[in-house]
Amino acid sequence: VGLKFTVAIDGPAAAGKGTISKAVAAHFGFAHLDTGLLYRAVGAKVLNGMDALKAAQTLEPVDLDSDDLRNPDVAQAASRVAVNSDVRTALVAFQRQFAARVGGAVLDGRDIGTVICVDADVKLFVTASSSKRAQRRMDELNAKGMGLTFAAVLEDVEARDKRDSERATAPLKPADDAVMLDTTDLTADAAIARAISLVAVARS
Ligand code: CDP
Ligand code: CDP
Repeated sequence: VGLKFTVAIDGPAAAGKGTISKAVAAHFGFAHLDTGLLYRAVGAKVLNGMDALKAAQTLEPVDLDSDDLRNPDVAQAASRVAVNSDVRTALVAFQRQFAARVGGAVLDGRDIGTVICVDADVKLFVTASSSKRAQRRMDELNAKGMGLTFAAVLEDVEARDKRDSERATAPLKPADDAVMLDTTDLTADAAIARAISLVAVARS
């Protein structure tokens, strides 16, 4: 009770990071931060003509609220601004403060276990085949009325994974001490159960 406890969840696009993070946070009463939303919000501002660094330096909580941030166009813009090391640096303090909150925190993204929270109590790296991830993301967005093709979603996912993995600063890769979780053949419930049991063991 009242202790700091940090769970870092990283992985490629649409691997199930958010689904697992939300469920872990709800189960243990931790706060959850989807760090991808920070980059998506900066990307959205750049699409509207703002300078990327200025957008990162002036980001406000309300900027993370818009449903439009889920669009593949914004995802691409996010991945392009995420290459910029000054943009990344501008977002570090907010993420670390969130991670250090009393009562526990789950952060999901690309560099939580490798850069933002190198001392996290639990590190999970969630993966799945790119076709499975694209299928799930397409179903998720089309359920909200988006009418995307599988080819378009696969292209977004694979282009971002490539850019995110190959960038010089904070590339997407598992931390040496991360537990790997491949959800290609797992239901969301099974993936959640695995994550909850890892956290339960680390807390005991
Ligand atoms: O946060 P991230 O982009 O990694 O993925 P997500 O938004 O949590 O998951 C993408 C979609 O895949 C969601 O609609 C999940 O419900 C679904 N999913 C699934 O079908 N099976 C899993 N094992 C994990 C997620
Ligand atoms: O939900 P999905 O996995 O598709 O993407 P996201 O987590 O919302 O992240 C969008 C983009 O932001 C990624 O493709 C990365 O380029 C960037 N990102 C990052 O560089 N570092 C993070 N900690 C989180 C996201």
